[in-house]
This record gives sequence, C-alpha cells and structure tokens, in this order.
Amino acid sequence: MCGIVGYIGKQKASHILLNGLKRMEYRGYDSAGWAMIENEKLNLLKNIGKVAHLDRLTPHDMINATVGIAHTRWATHGFPNHLNAHPHMDNSENIAVVHNGIIENYTALKTKLQKDGYYFNSDTDTEVLAVFIGAIYEKVQDLEKAVRIALSEIDGTFGIAVLSSYEPEKIICARHGSPMVLGIGDNEYIVASDAAAIIQHTNQVVYLNDKEMAIITRDGFVTKTIDNENTEPIIEEINFDLAQIEKGGFDHFMLKEIHEQPETVFNSFRGRLLADVGNVKLGGLNNMMDKLRKTKRIIITACGTSWHAGLVGEYMIEQMAQIPVEVEYASEFRYRNPIIGPDDVVFAISQSGETLDTLAAIKEARQKGATVIGIVNVVGSTIARETEAGVYIHAGPEIGVASTKAFTSQITVLSLIALLLGRMRNLSQPEGQAIAEAIMELPDKIRQVLATEKEIKAIAEKYYENKNFLYLGRGFNYPLALEGALKLKEISYIHAEGYPAAEMKHGPIALIDENMPVVFIATKDTIYDKVFSNIEEVKARKGKIIAIATEGDERIKKVADHVIYVPEVMPMLNPILSAVPLQLLAYHIALKLECDVDQPRNLAKSVTVE
Ligand code: M6R
Repeated sequence: MCGIVGYIGKQKASHILLNGLKRMEYRGYDSAGWAMIENEKLNLLKNIGKVAHLDRLTPHDMINATVGIAHTRWATHGFPNHLNAHPHMDNSENIAVVHNGIIENYTALKTKLQKDGYYFNSDTDTEVLAVFIGAIYEKVQDLEKAVRIALSEIDGTFGIAVLSSYEPEKIICARHGSPMVLGIGDNEYIVASDAAAIIQHTNQVVYLNDKEMAIITRDGFVTKTIDNENTEPIIEEINFDLAQIEKGGFDHFMLKEIHEQPETVFNSFRGRLLADVGNVKLGGLNNMMDKLRKTKRIIITACGTSWHAGLVGEYMIEQMAQIPVEVEYASEFRYRNPIIGPDDVVFAISQSGETLDTLAAIKEARQKGATVIGIVNVVGSTIARETEAGVYIHAGPEIGVASTKAFTSQITVLSLIALLLGRMRNLSQPEGQAIAEAIMELPDKIRQVLATEKEIKAIAEKYYENKNFLYLGRGFNYPLALEGALKLKEISYIHAEGYPAAEMKHGPIALIDENMPVVFIATKDTIYDKVFSNIEEVKARKGKIIAIATEGDERIKKVADHVIYVPEVMPMLNPILSAVPLQLLAYHIALKLECDVDQPRNLAKSVTVE
C-alpha cells in the first residue's frame, strides 16, 4: 500500500524516481509526488492521479538534482486530493517526508503542535510527522536526531524517507511494520518500499528490520535502531529479474500473469514432490516435522484471494490427512480472542507477505503459543520473516492488483502440505503417488485451459453489460465460486456473489431471472449430480448458465447456455484448473467495460492498513 522511492548518487534523480514509482504503482495510485534537492534548495511537485501524470508535469530537462524522494499514494487519512498527496513538508518547508503506514497517535500530536503554533495544510497523519520532525529539528539542529526522536514518540506503523535542505547530501529512511529496502549500486543508493523499484539498478539489497533506520549519503550508509544502536546490515540478492516485472508483450500484467500459470504452478511444486514414494519434501518445514505429525488441529488465516485458497486447503487437508481445519479471516481472528494454544499449527497465507491483518493474526497466534507457518510469495517479506517456518509459493512477482497466479500457486503448495500431512497419517503410498502424479500433470492441463480463451472472450462479449452475476459451486469448487465472484467485482465493478450451489435455494434463487448470468463450476466429482440439479433449478427460472465442466461432459450442454471445458483432474486439484477460465472471464468483461484492469479503483496490491 503506497510506494516509496528515494535516490542519491551521480545520475539525474528525476528519471530514477519516476521510473521507480511506475514500477510500484500497483501499490497505490491515488496521487503521486516527489521532492528533490538542487543547489541546496528543496523542490517539490505532487499531483492527484497516476504517476504518468506527474511524469508529464515534471520538467526533467530543467532538473539536475541527484538526490530525491518520491511517493505514490493509496489514501488512508484524507481524500485522495492534491493537498493530501505526499511528500509532506514541515512548517519551514526545509524537510520533506514520504510515508507508508498509519500514525495512530497523530491527532494528539497534531493538537499539541497546533497549541505550540504549528499549522497544517492537509488531513494526513504524514504531515503531522513532517511538522513534528521540523519542530524537533529547530531544537536539536541535527536531522538524524530529529527523525529518531520523532519516531520514538509515534505509535503505529511506518516506512519513511526524509529529505532536507538543512542536510542536503543525505536521505534518512526507517521502517516499522511497512517494508523498506535499500539498494546498493555503484556509488549510488536507491531506497524503496518494494524491490521492484530497485532491480533495474542493482540486485544487492539490505532489507531494513522493524525499528531500524538507514542514513544514506553519496559515500555510503549506516544502519541503526531508532534507539541509536548501530546494526550490522546483511546484504542479500533480489530473487527476480527485470523481465519478470515487465508486461512481456501482453496488454496487461493480469493477462500476462494468467498466462504464466503453467510455469508458476510448476515452480510451486518443482523439486518438492517425491513421486516414487508418493510424498513431499519441503525444506522450509524441516524443523516442523514433529509438530506437524502431532498436531490435532490446524488453523488457516488469510485475507481476500489468499483466504479463498485457504478454504481449498481446508478441504484438501481434511480429506487427505483427516485433521480438523478452521479457516479464519485474519481481520476477524485478530480481534475475537480465538481459542488457540501451543498444540495448534497455524498456516498464514499471503501473496505480498505484508498484509497487516494477516500479520496481526500471526502475532495473536504466536502470543497464544501456537506454531505459525507462512505460505508466502514475496521472499524476504515481513510475514516470511515473522513466521517460525514457511513455504514460498515461488509464483514470481505479481503486479496485477487482482491476484491470479498467486492463487493457483497457493493451492498447489497447500496440496503439497496436505499430501505431506496425509502421508504422516493414514494416506497410503499408492494414494500419495497418484496425487503426486496428478499434481505433475497440472501445467500441461493449464495450457489446455488457456487455449479456450477465445470462447471465454466471446462469452464476456455477450454478458459484459449485465449488472449482476452469481457464481455457484460445491465442495472444492465452492471456494472457487467465491474467487470467481471476487475477480469480477474487483476489476469490472459488476456486482457478483459466490455461493455454495445448494445454498442458492435458501435465498439467492429469488434473484434469478432471464437477466441473471449464473456461472456454475460443475466439474466431475462425487457431487456432480447434485450440482446438475442446481443447474436445472436455475434453468427452470430462465437464468443464463455459463458452466465450467469436465471435458467429455455432453450432458451439461443440454442445460447450459455456454460450456467451458477443462481437462479431467482429481477433484481436489480442479480449483487450480477452473480458476483460469474464471480469471479470463473477469479479465475480458473488464476489458469490454474499459476498466483499468491492472489498477482497479480504490484497491492496492498489498493492504498494509487495517
Ligand atoms: O498479499 P495478500 O495475499 O495477503 O493479500 C490479501 C488480499 O488483500 C488480496 O488477495 C486481495 O483480495 C486481492 N486484491 C485479490 O485479488
């Protein structure tokens, strides 16, 4: 949520900052702004809307500054308008601050500063921090000290970068709960909230820890805690390359990411399946094997699409390992005093590894003595570091705000975990082998599903003007109905609801008439006949039926208006295949409606606020 970038070095800062913001724009796109220092003077420009707009306004030819900070915003405090855009300045207009996160005690601080005669132009918590740093600087005349004192008095979360004409050859950044990465180039440094803004310049980075700050000059940097204790920076390598964060010939990141799924699903199980013994090897869980063998209860916690993947995981683990599983919205779990203890194992699922609610749920579970394991995509992210053990899903950078490839990779990893847990219990070797083989066939089968895109596009062209959609499925396909509806809502702004197919008759059936498209995920499994009856119920009420069905199912053609076929697969793995047509349907509907597919309104890629 929000993106920060800062540069100090020998190149012109404006291009590097704007380019960095574009790479991070998926984190927030309400407004954007920069501050640069030239001839010891602080210049600032900000604008409502996208980074491209700010770029157009920036007089690149006239700016020779080689130091600056910039920000792309997802609004938390205050409307997404010009005044609330970052950077914010102190009252002397010599200190500029960009900030991700939330300062919880900003109202009290603001009142106190107002009493002391300071004034504010915006509604943001960030401006309070900028003014606060400025007020302290007046007394201590030392930027690092002023930042340190200010940070020690604020409650909440922050990733910040500070620039000042008082000490123009310096950027100070700090983090607590919001990521901050320092890229080390050749006599230049780029600081950012996301490695995507850095990779073009260097792959050598230092991930700041919570309550840590970096003081960066042209000649080097030091890291220390915000209590002024020096720390030893650990230099790591970014684990992706530039090509992975570019569109690679596709019109949108979302479409590219949908089409990457044969490879990303493969990467999620590559080197992890022991097909000959029908088992799984997950290096990140090596020190958890005893715990996993003994646990009697599993809790899965996540948000959004990751929560939907968690529901599929519940069904998989219960079926294969016969362990009771509960799936909790992280945002609810954290506040309801959950019954959980040292015998429980919690799996926290997150693509970004930065979702604040999921992080808070992890802390709550750990506080109560449970073992917490992360299932995360972004390497080195906060959740990856806050969990005792974990499994990376290896889906590669996901830039489209609507999650696609991360979802199928999360389910793939959950199928591995379910297999591992099952083989620790009653699942036989032949059963394990059959599951391992079925997982290995997934990439080819996803390729076959992708080949149906033309038919899906034609369906999208027929229904894109409908105002409501229903998505129905049962068993393993029920979470998929939720996910299909979420994808459509997010990127096309069409109202869509996902339901367990059999629940339809308990209420939503009242909505069905000739204007209601109903997407059924009706692939072959043990409850196929029951789903078929549900389809007939919709048909009888003139609903329009779009069915995702198993190849060779001729019967469904008689009742459905449209059928999209997916290859036959073990039912528990079907969500990985059937997710693909749902993603494509949402994508092509959004495209017809001329919506901003990669950056839908009001959303941001990682939600680092409550
Ligand atoms: O990064 P996370 O997986 O923790 O994010 C969780 C949700 O915010 C995320 O899945 C969200 O629902 C996506 N926009 C779904 O497409």
